[in-house]
Amino acid sequence: MTRSVHLLNIKGDNSLRPDLERLARLSAESQNLKHPITAWEKIRESSDRIYLLLENELVTGYIRLGQRTLYLSPDPVSVELQPFSVFCVLDFFIQNQCRGNGNFLMQQILTSSPNLSPAKLAFDRPSAKLVPFLRKHFGLLDLVEQPNKFVISRQFFSLYKFFIHQ
Ligand SMILES: CC(C)(COP(=O)(O)OP(=O)(O)OC[C@H]1O[C@@H](n2cnc3c(N)ncnc32)[C@H](O)[C@@H]1OP(=O)(O)O)[C@@H](O)C(=O)NCCC(=O)NCCS
Repeated sequence: MTRSVHLLNIKGDNSLRPDLERLARLSAESQNLKHPITAWEKIRESSDRIYLLLENELVTGYIRLGQRTLYLSPDPVSVELQPFSVFCVLDFFIQNQCRGNGNFLMQQILTSSPNLSPAKLAFDRPSAKLVPFLRKHFGLLDLVEQPNKFVISRQFFSLYKFFIHQ
């Protein structure tokens, strides 16, 4: 079996649209969402990036990443929220799960983006499967839930001294 990762050219190439839409429906179902949160027309207008996982040249997974300005705090109950531009995992789905595919996809992205690390990412409403995934592969043990439902590693707040000197 050969695995590879492909950055989707959503503005210039429609050929993978059916694959992405099929997986986006499965992603929504697996997260008990009423509608897919990754919609072709909407993503086309954005600067989000979609990385596809290919197994034997079939598209079997994807991750959608995008930059967002989020209001974050290391302790949302007692420390004021502050705006921060952060790279976010907005949707993530792997069809053949628990075979190392999700980790493969993430590792490929991290290898090609030297300035990125898991501790710098925010995760939109992480599922019950994503939390152990992040713990196992990236050592993200202490996740801080934000009022906007994004979750971010406590390490993030140590990386950005901005938050420490409040
Ligand atoms: C979360 C997800 C992307 C991980 O991808 P994956 O290819 O299954 O992950 P890997 O095989 O690389 O890593 C496996 C680890 O992920 C976690 N994991 C994956 N599926 C899990 C499940 N059903 N229950 C609990 N943990 C799970 C575990 O830590 C697992 O390690 P283990 O097998 O030793 O328990 C994938 O399971 C998925 O698409 N889930 C459905 C959609 C979803 O929840 N997306 C996240 C949206 S926020």
